[in-house]
Amino acid sequence: MLRGNRELWFAFVFCVLITGLYGLVVLWTRAIPAASDLFGHTLGIFGFILMLMTETLYSLRKRIRSAAWGRMSTWLQFHIFMGLVGPYMVLLHTSWEFNGLAGATTLLTVIIVLSGFIGRYIYTRIPRTMDGLEIEGTLSQEALKRARQLMSLWHTIHIPIGVALFISAFVHMGAALYYATFLK
Ligand code: HEM
Ligand code: HEM
Repeated sequence: MLRGNRELWFAFVFCVLITGLYGLVVLWTRAIPAASDLFGHTLGIFGFILMLMTETLYSLRKRIRSAAWGRMSTWLQFHIFMGLVGPYMVLLHTSWEFNGLAGATTLLTVIIVLSGFIGRYIYTRIPRTMDGLEIEGTLSQEALKRARQLMSLWHTIHIPIGVALFISAFVHMGAALYYATFLK
């Protein structure tokens, strides 16, 4: 079960700290950090690594029985924390320009984060143990059935968006590194 919204607060505090650092760099250089400069690039790379961890770690913990370390609820909190901080760093990486494929990748990133909030809302409607197993009986059967149907509908939409996002992110990275970094 996800209790409270600690992970959202942690993510918020982290984003404020990163914004502070970004603000200092803007004041220092008197310019918006370019996506291909040291600071902008670092934000993109670290943000993307966090997003990759968001995409993979929770699913691995959920599906691989031999990897049963830590509570599922903690992993989901970690998933949400990284799923917010990573996209935020990537957003600061963009230098507020959204052309072509890189712009489309940013749009998919925003969509997956919004979709995550919807999923979180539905997920918390279903009573569960700390290990994420559903508990029968607390909700009326009709409401529980509807929440389960919604959750599985949400999964069938959310997962392909994630896959599309990572495919376009990898193509963007390849193209950006080739044209903006190595050809310079
Ligand atoms: C999901 C992750 C990412 C998103 C959404 C993203 C998005 C963007 C956007 C919107 C731009 C600005 C494009 C424009 O000028 O209109 C950009 C530029 C750039 N990105 Fe990313 N990025 C991501 C990850 C990365 C990573 C991991 C790297 C490096 C390995 C990278 C390298 C670059 C470079 C070098 C540029 C500058 C391109 C240029 O100056 O033409 N990006 N990115
Ligand atoms: C980079 C951003 C994100 C990516 C790539 C991502 C990806 C995924 C993936 C692939 C799953 C399916 C896990 C599975 O069943 O194996 C998932 C589930 C989920 N995600 Fe995210 N997510 C992101 C951000 C978020 C955010 C910001 C939230 C909440 C605010 C969130 C909440 C959830 C919830 C509640 C589930 C369902 C857990 C379950 O049914 O067991 N995600 N996410």
